[in-house]
Amino acid sequence: MVVLVTGANGQLGQSIQFIADKHPNIQFVYTDFQEMDITNLESCQTVFSKYKPQFCINTAAYTAVDKAESEAEKAQLINAIGPENLAKICKEFDTILVHISTDFIFDGTSKTPYLESDIPNPQSVYGQTKLDGEIAIQKNWEKHFIVRTSWVYSQFANNFMKTMLRLASERDNLSVVNDQIGTPTNAVDLADVLLNIITKDEIQISHFGTYNFSNEGVCSWYDFANEIFHQSKISIHLNPIPTEAYPTPAKRPAYSVLDKTKIKKVFGVLIKDWKESLKESLNQLN
Ligand SMILES: NC(=O)c1ccc[n+]([C@@H]2O[C@H](COP(=O)([O-])OP(=O)(O)OC[C@H]3O[C@@H](n4cnc5c(N)ncnc54)[C@H](OP(=O)(O)O)[C@@H]3O)[C@@H](O)[C@H]2O)c1
Repeated sequence: MVVLVTGANGQLGQSIQFIADKHPNIQFVYTDFQEMDITNLESCQTVFSKYKPQFCINTAAYTAVDKAESEAEKAQLINAIGPENLAKICKEFDTILVHISTDFIFDGTSKTPYLESDIPNPQSVYGQTKLDGEIAIQKNWEKHFIVRTSWVYSQFANNFMKTMLRLASERDNLSVVNDQIGTPTNAVDLADVLLNIITKDEIQISHFGTYNFSNEGVCSWYDFANEIFHQSKISIHLNPIPTEAYPTPAKRPAYSVLDKTKIKKVFGVLIKDWKESLKESLNQLN
């Protein structure tokens, strides 16, 4: 089975490579921006013609949430036109498309975990472009899995965990937002789930669609930072602050916990608690 991975140098792409050995029956084809630019249909066509993949996992994305506010066109091209191209090309080659989306498609006003069926209402350019990408896929190719996730970190690339560790080596006190609530997701666990989905014995038409995935549990960014320092035995003065005290160009959802009942039920996924998964990621750094 040939599985094409786009954006393979990003943190999810590297996480897939990290666990690829667990799936000796899969022939992975890893592509980065140079080999396959998802915004360029011809570039996708060349790669698909060469490898004829059964699955395409699209980890490529424009993920600079704040920068997107001033680079809307570029974010739209990568997060919406790119997935549209992939959906069209996947249809041509009868390839199942696995795409990653985000909690940022929601406005964060819910008081209970978001279901896949809840109405999106993005509050940022990034969130809107990711929602447009979802819609483009849904319109163009039914054989797809869209997996929405939140607060992704790992031992790879840049992310909140690594930023906290870097800042702690430069300062002796830090302020972190305490009123945005969500769930961290170890990219390695996300990679694991994506590969479990595609290796399911029999994928039925009824399985296609949208799923939520994050680790288990709920916390604020402050709690997340606190746990990173606690587990790393780093002593630092950490101040909880409200969102107003840390203004950013892009508005973030105040609450973005995802309900994972569907993915657990359909794919029998067992999900680790975020603190346990954080430990595994920190161990990989040491
Ligand atoms: N990170 C999070 O907290 C988070 C939360 C929720 C959902 N997600 C979603 O999870 C997915 C994976 O995120 P991630 O954290 O792995 O992102 P990432 O580390 O930023 O990786 C994205 C990769 O896509 C590449 N890329 C950009 N434009 C491309 C193009 N036109 N063609 C091919 N590749 C291109 C990037 O290359 P360059 O670096 O060279 O630009 C980068 O290697 C994304 O869909 C993201 O929206 C992420």
